[in-house]
Amino acid sequence: MIDISKYTNFHEIDHPLLKHKITKLREKDTKTNEFRQIVKEIAFIEGYEALRDLPTHLREIETPIEKTWQPSISRKKLCFVPILRAGLGMEDGMLELVPGATCGHIGLYRDEETKKPVEYYCKLPGDICDRHVYLIDPMLATGGSAMGAVEILRKHGAQKITFICIIAAPEGVKAFCEAHPDVEVFCGVVDRELNDDAYICPGLGDCGDRTFGTVK
Ligand code: PRP
Ligand code: URA
Repeated sequence: MIDISKYTNFHEIDHPLLKHKITKLREKDTKTNEFRQIVKEIAFIEGYEALRDLPTHLREIETPIEKTWQPSISRKKLCFVPILRAGLGMEDGMLELVPGATCGHIGLYRDEETKKPVEYYCKLPGDICDRHVYLIDPMLATGGSAMGAVEILRKHGAQKITFICIIAAPEGVKAFCEAHPDVEVFCGVVDRELNDDAYICPGLGDCGDRTFGTVK
């Protein structure tokens, strides 16, 4: 039994709307268009939580009544990085929160035999070292893809990284949090375990296939 409560960088978001939407995602009869829409809504909710610590400063404005000092976001240097393919489904939800954010993309797929991530694409902003990077991928299974993506980000100079996922397996939480204790992780729900094919149980199946309608 893996005890994930000891990983202080790991946060499971507790909100009934989020849990309800994840249940809809899991259902095998949820159609592709609905699946995509729900992933986007979940990204918005999770992004809202993950962005809670954005720094603010006071700025003087004028209301119709009087002048006043009010909070504004200080650091707008953000970068959202979905892991292709499935992470793409979360990108629009995040961009609804911060439309001006820069986006990078990392392409990884899990080799069917080894379950290890294989990199096939990487495009990141040149000033990534100055940005708070929000890495996004719906599934944290073995953790290989998310850990691989963090290593790629670090190689390109990223300093501050937050990872946002929808469903995690305890095995992936352990592997990721032990490898990267300095990366805050926001997650919608932690499931029971991985099966022999390294799929999350009960999970939702193959998230990339369900997002893009490529179910075999
Ligand atoms: C899925 C998912 C993650 C990865 C998680 O992608 O989106 O990237 O699996 O598994 P892991 O934690 O064991 O690495 P997949 O490899 O199926 O690629 P796809 O999104 O292109 O379908
Ligand atoms: N990738 C998925 O899409 N689903 C899983 O359950 C595990 C990895």
